[in-house]
Amino acid sequence: GKDGYRHYMEKELHEHPVVIGQTLQRLIDPATRRVVLPDLPFDLASVPRAVITACGSAFYAGMIGRYWLESVARIPVDIDVASEMRYRDPPLTPGGMGLLISQSGETADTLAALRGMRAHRQHIVSVLNVEQSTIARESDVVLGTAAGPEISVASTKAFTAQLSVLACLAIAAGRRRGVVSPDQEQALVASLLDLPSRAGEVFDQADAIRRMAAVIAGARDVLYLGRGSSFPVALEGALKLKEVSYIHAEAYAAGEMKHGPISLIDQTVPIVATAPSGRLFEKTLSNLQEARARGGRLLVFTDTQGAERLRGIAEIVVAIPTVDEFTAPVLQTIPVQMLAYEVALLKGTDVDQPRNLAKSVTVE
Ligand code: F6R
Repeated sequence: GKDGYRHYMEKELHEHPVVIGQTLQRLIDPATRRVVLPDLPFDLASVPRAVITACGSAFYAGMIGRYWLESVARIPVDIDVASEMRYRDPPLTPGGMGLLISQSGETADTLAALRGMRAHRQHIVSVLNVEQSTIARESDVVLGTAAGPEISVASTKAFTAQLSVLACLAIAAGRRRGVVSPDQEQALVASLLDLPSRAGEVFDQADAIRRMAAVIAGARDVLYLGRGSSFPVALEGALKLKEVSYIHAEAYAAGEMKHGPISLIDQTVPIVATAPSGRLFEKTLSNLQEARARGGRLLVFTDTQGAERLRGIAEIVVAIPTVDEFTAPVLQTIPVQMLAYEVALLKGTDVDQPRNLAKSVTVE
């Protein structure tokens, strides 16, 4: 049941902290605080390349996985949505890693992309929530997400569980490839293990998120922005808003604004930005200042450290706990999904069963 929540989506949003913790528990040895993956039929030290594919939200989790595999493990990565990947026929060196991400394990395009990669002799690693599924049966290795059943058609908790697995995979690969030292591994693992309690604190921001929702609910179009690993968070936010509130939203890499979308900006198109403190913060801030100078209403998700700089620039600031840059996208996803839920409530849509959507997409 819904455990007293109004919708499964609300219940599942509140499960983020537990789900992240349970997923990490499967992959981190509490004694040594090192990542321990199941046995792989190939060596992460010598894998030439990873190809990531998935659909929808799972694809956005994959985009964050790409940042991690590239920056933490120094593995070259290609990524595309499965509906494109299955027909692209990219040249693949045998022995590469095909990395599939799927909550249901039944998505037709993801399965077809898997079969294409298998035909090119890739090792198939799947990040799945439903471990008794078609994709599971056709994979060499399944890395399970411990999200439990996800009933809401719009995915929420599966996303942070997928990120938890992908982060561990990147750390393990980095160690194996000699680019993550034992000290670095300890620091990265510590930041992961800190996530469940920090995630719980995100819900303290519910009132500020509702204030944002009131602005969004009156809009016809919304622009989501982010840079680096916050760009997929923006994509996830825009997708979730479209799905459950039926408001048109688009996400852009913040640096792309001046190459076109900035022409959209006026008071009627609110801008939702994800801008945690860190390496790219100042860059995003200057993009936001440009948007504001053109009359844009800025609603910004940041952390307590970034909030200082944003007050006075943004109309509404939601500051969640400051965490390591590595884990920030995991935490920043939660308020962005909460926002979509709050807007759907205001719009009175069928939150758990949005029109035209199915939980598992088993046809092309
Ligand atoms: C978004 C959503 C969809 C799924 C996509 C992939 O909220 O639920 O975009 O993420 O259909 O589904 P799975 O993960 O089952 O392969």
